[in-house]
Amino acid sequence: MSVHYKDIKRITTHVLQEMKERGEKISMLTAYDYSMAKILDAAKVDVLLVGDSASNVMAGHMTTLPITLDQMIYHASSVIRGIYRALVVVDLPFGSYQGNSKEALQSAIRIMKESGAHAIKLEGGEEVVESIKRIVSAGIPVMGHLGLTPQSIYKFGTFEVRAKEEEEAQKLIRDAHALQAAGCFAIVLEKIPASLAAQVAKEITIPIIGIGAGGAVDGQVLVTHDLLGISKDFNPRFIRRYLNLYDDILNAVGRYIEDVKNKDFPNEKEQY
Ligand code: KIV
Repeated sequence: MSVHYKDIKRITTHVLQEMKERGEKISMLTAYDYSMAKILDAAKVDVLLVGDSASNVMAGHMTTLPITLDQMIYHASSVIRGIYRALVVVDLPFGSYQGNSKEALQSAIRIMKESGAHAIKLEGGEEVVESIKRIVSAGIPVMGHLGLTPQSIYKFGTFEVRAKEEEEAQKLIRDAHALQAAGCFAIVLEKIPASLAAQVAKEITIPIIGIGAGGAVDGQVLVTHDLLGISKDFNPRFIRRYLNLYDDILNAVGRYIEDVKNKDFPNEKEQY
């Protein structure tokens, strides 16, 4: 059965706001390529994030820092070709927005123009407010990201839970208010105490999407490779694995190799 574009209610930033207001949880997952985006969209995930975690998951880097704007645009345009329904949000990569709001706007415009994505995401609080305002005033929806912000990993020094101490928690609350006032349509909170995330989700009127931030927020995001069990060596407690694809793929490929070696593949029906 083919999908008819006009029959599908697309997810927009306004739809997400309505979901928050009626207490319906938002589902968000990462996607970096056409084939996976197509499956996730068919499953009706609300938001697809073309995360700079592509730097880790797709390219094998230790951090998110090396991925470039051109590479993010490549991933985003692949994802866009696979979707009918989801809102597609793309990370501004490290070095494409920090400290320069004009450059931030140029980077956001390149993503929107060259990939066809619907929104961008960037990391940080008060220090990126000027960039957010500039991007939003150009008509581009912006998602914020607070808590553990992986582009600042060398400042933090570890991937430990953030904002456990009062001072950092208070700064995070101030930052969340600043992002909302600057015009963000939603904020990701990564790896912070559940009670703090709950307080932010209560105080802030835009949707709060958590990853390792407990259940009292407006939605959840996971890296799809973690959920599917493709990655094996990353095991923070906030991941729930719904499949064990690493072992399933290993098994399937092992069987294929065996069939080739045994001359069992291809058989008569599998040739011309
Ligand atoms: O890049 C990413 O995958 C992210 C999520 C962890 C929120 O930013």
